[in-house]
Amino acid sequence: MKPGILAIFLCFIVGVENIGAQPIQQKSAATQHWWKEAVVYQIYPRSFKDSNGDGVGDLKGIISELDYIKSLGVDVVWLNPVYQSPNFDNGYDVSDYRKILPEFGTMADFDSLLNGMHRRGIKLVMDLVVNHSSSEHEWFKQSRSSRINPYRNYYHWWNAENGKPPYRFSLFDINHDAWQYDTLTNAYYLHYFSDKQPDLNWGNPKVRNEVYSIMRFWADKGIDGFRLDAFQFVAKDTTFPMFPKGFEKNFMLYYAMQGNLHGYLQQMNQQIFSKYDVMSVAEGAGNTFEDAHNLVDSNRHELNIAYAFNGVDLAKPNGYSLLQFKSIFSQWDSAFEHSGWLAVFLANHDQARMVSRFGNDAPQFRTLSSQMLSTFLLTMRGTPFYYNGDELGMVNPNFTSIHDYRDEVILDAYKHTQLTGGNIKAFLKNLAFGARDNGRTPFPWDSSLNAGFTTGLPWIGINANYKTVNVAVEENDPNSCLNYFRKLMQLRKNNPTLVYGKYTLLDKNNPQVYAYLREDAAGKFLVVLNFSAKDAVFNNLTLMAKANVVLVLANYINKPSTIALRNKIPLRPYEAMVIKL
Ligand code: GLC
Ligand code: CA
Repeated sequence: MKPGILAIFLCFIVGVENIGAQPIQQKSAATQHWWKEAVVYQIYPRSFKDSNGDGVGDLKGIISELDYIKSLGVDVVWLNPVYQSPNFDNGYDVSDYRKILPEFGTMADFDSLLNGMHRRGIKLVMDLVVNHSSSEHEWFKQSRSSRINPYRNYYHWWNAENGKPPYRFSLFDINHDAWQYDTLTNAYYLHYFSDKQPDLNWGNPKVRNEVYSIMRFWADKGIDGFRLDAFQFVAKDTTFPMFPKGFEKNFMLYYAMQGNLHGYLQQMNQQIFSKYDVMSVAEGAGNTFEDAHNLVDSNRHELNIAYAFNGVDLAKPNGYSLLQFKSIFSQWDSAFEHSGWLAVFLANHDQARMVSRFGNDAPQFRTLSSQMLSTFLLTMRGTPFYYNGDELGMVNPNFTSIHDYRDEVILDAYKHTQLTGGNIKAFLKNLAFGARDNGRTPFPWDSSLNAGFTTGLPWIGINANYKTVNVAVEENDPNSCLNYFRKLMQLRKNNPTLVYGKYTLLDKNNPQVYAYLREDAAGKFLVVLNFSAKDAVFNNLTLMAKANVVLVLANYINKPSTIALRNKIPLRPYEAMVIKL
């Protein structure tokens, strides 16, 4: 991209057009809801902005950047946990659900954050982490203190005189053993995640009522939704039957959507979701389309949105197949064409950066591939969940030493690899590609020391490219990822066709190009994306050739504002086009 006078001029005429802005008369089967039309911007509070120089992002930091968030055009912010926590798992181990972690600020800060968002027309979704609590939560302290404590049944215990409990797989434990022996009462407790995150017993109505009361506390404050962390795992068969040998290779089949999970969700809906105007989204969507429908179909009165992982899970260090990628997203779309609603995402705080995994983080392709992926996310059906920093085209930091990482789960796994004589070099290489810390490096605000994130020592390293990839630099570049993202946001806002319209995959077998139509009574868009670093051709087999079609948005700036729709449309590396038909 060589910005010149002509290029800058073209950029203006290729800018977003207000197409079909009038309300749509006839829509797809989907009923309209604000949470379907929203774009959710996920903020990782630890890494967004530090206000007091301790190197850790905080609520006051977010408050100071509310105008930036507003300027993006997003409608909803999802905030990762900010509750009281010993912070073993960066807040996903809550020790008091009604308190704010002092490192992040006070409840007064929280109230002014919520207020500041609402004043700007931005809604706030909070993380609800109730598959487990922290082992430092008062409930757990009570529970482990004696077998007859009233809180004993808040968690899952197995008395050791009954022998070893049937094997359960832990996602975070280095030995993958989900039962932790506790000498105090000679019993094991269950933890699907780390031993510092004991699983709550959802079969106990008292636990459920505690959770509803916590939800009421936040909903009464006026928050606008809940993201239910790891919720698909909450229901368990508490007789703990033996699972077949090797079940852990397919643990989802045994862990997700078990027991009375839907009963619990219906009760939660009746107690909370039906009483407040809040959106609800589940992390995970079970194992099948049917599982996902059972979570979100409106006639079931459970949740609004679920997010499935098989799209985001595709990326591997040696690449991924675009054919598979297209097939996964197309299948999800068709399975939800008539009922239910899904999230569309390629990154979050548990993933490495989307550009490094699905695009190309080499300097010449970073901007283009980031813009191309954002085009995908914001032109698909479903609610986009967009991770902070992706609007700048942030990439993996390329950490080379274990000392660069902060995630305890990674540090444990490293120790384990060392102790068992594993291949450390290969381990580190895998981390550099896929570790979740890659997505948690500080948000770069400007080119000053520490990227303007903190005046102190940042809790985790800053990306080496922060002098070119930051808000201040990108604000001033009309062709930056940031300004492109804003145009995309406007395009989606102004055209509900992109939210509700029918999706049709085109040129299905093209291994480089992802092309699709989005259409309804109000309009029709063709989205053409080159997912590869090479020139490609979109084979237009179905659309009538036309001399002049309007190119409403494109990531190569030297494009005319109209193009000819031919049988073959050439594309440059990572080229993205949204065409109005
Ligand atoms: C979810 C969170 C992740 C956390 C885990 C345990 O997957 O997204 O960050 O570590 O649950 O709470
Ligand atoms: Ca701070």
